[in-house]
Amino acid sequence: MTSALAIAGGPKVREKPFPAWPIYGTEEEEALLEVVRSGKWGRLAGDRVRTFEEAFAAYQDARHGIAVTNGTVALRLALLAAGVEEGDEVIVPPYTFLATASAVVEVNGTPVFVDIEPDTCNIDPAKIEAALTPRTRAIIPVHFAGQAADLERITAIARRHNLVVIEDAAHAHGATYRGRKVGAIGDMGCFSFQSSKNLTAGEGGVILTNAEHYERLCRSLHNCGRLPEGIWYEHHLIGGNYRMTEFQGAVLLAQLARLEEQTRTRDANGRYLNARLAEVPGIRSLARGRDVTRHSYHLYIVRYDPAAFSGAPRARFLAALSAEGIPCSGGYPVGLYAQPLFANRNFGPFGGARRARPDLRYDRADFPVCEQTCAEACWLSQSLLLGTREDMDDIVRAVWKVYEQREDLKT
Ligand SMILES: Cc1ncc(COP(=O)(O)O)c(C=O)c1O
Repeated sequence: MTSALAIAGGPKVREKPFPAWPIYGTEEEEALLEVVRSGKWGRLAGDRVRTFEEAFAAYQDARHGIAVTNGTVALRLALLAAGVEEGDEVIVPPYTFLATASAVVEVNGTPVFVDIEPDTCNIDPAKIEAALTPRTRAIIPVHFAGQAADLERITAIARRHNLVVIEDAAHAHGATYRGRKVGAIGDMGCFSFQSSKNLTAGEGGVILTNAEHYERLCRSLHNCGRLPEGIWYEHHLIGGNYRMTEFQGAVLLAQLARLEEQTRTRDANGRYLNARLAEVPGIRSLARGRDVTRHSYHLYIVRYDPAAFSGAPRARFLAALSAEGIPCSGGYPVGLYAQPLFANRNFGPFGGARRARPDLRYDRADFPVCEQTCAEACWLSQSLLLGTREDMDDIVRAVWKVYEQREDLKT
């Protein structure tokens, strides 16, 4: 006989917290102190950021890395480097963080949403071509939750239509596609080092690329439009100061040393959860794409079917699971097109989208897979997947417990 649900006053499946995030040690402390004592706090004086750029680019199988202040800026500068101008269209998925689409608005372009695949939550390549127009300049596939998008089909479409591919790899540090790390499989790739991310310095971002042309442009854009051969007060491009500090570079170098092992642990635990949760009625893990050789599991996502849980709404399931000691959330409440910013085209001075596509009404958008995903997804964050096998068994036990006592979810 299983005990009562914790949400109804019964004992929790788990009292112990999951691994906290970020994970750090004397390596980060000493690296930071070294920077403080060096007096070289900005990247133009020190060598921590440059060393990190080289190390991270090499780790991700890319030739060049340009470290910047955050992932949003990385996307914006990559779009500028791609040559996106007023009214140019950029294909983006709607099931993603704001920045994937707002960065397009911020270069005065038009984000054009294309629905996601139900199995992976990544942009659906089969729907991209129908959304292209003569103004389309780029595609931003997001490697959502840490699973590579279908880059073969996406890059083939891009080649056919002369489009730039900018990977949004904010969730995908260490993720591989056909054995190769993501980030420079497309033309450019953007990562975030914000607090929740699998590699973090609190804030930060990087652009990776194999193309010298894009490297040169992004490096200049992030440094006030300067050129390496130019003088200090000489500005060629509409960039700004988006340089990373040496403090961030030092922390990221220390964190990078932990990333490979952490990524392996998350991937192994993700596979284990997939196998174990497949047995629970009404709970469906996302599929792994055929070519996904390593998933970085920034998020572990399952779809919840209320019909299998006596009709209990997802919010009730999430509250019950949290009460059992498994922190979880429902993720994005709506697709980006339904956010007031897009629904009202509240783009402030960035009028490119309004002028170029007055017909494009985000508030009348119809993206059934995204809508369904917003309604049924349950997210677990990456740090849970850094736990032990026993920790994963607690997750499985808690899901089973809530399932078995589903009648008690009714309020
Ligand atoms: C998919 C995705 N893209 C871009 C970003 C933007 O990164 P940042 O918060 O570092 O600006 C995030 C951050 O949450 C993200 O999740």
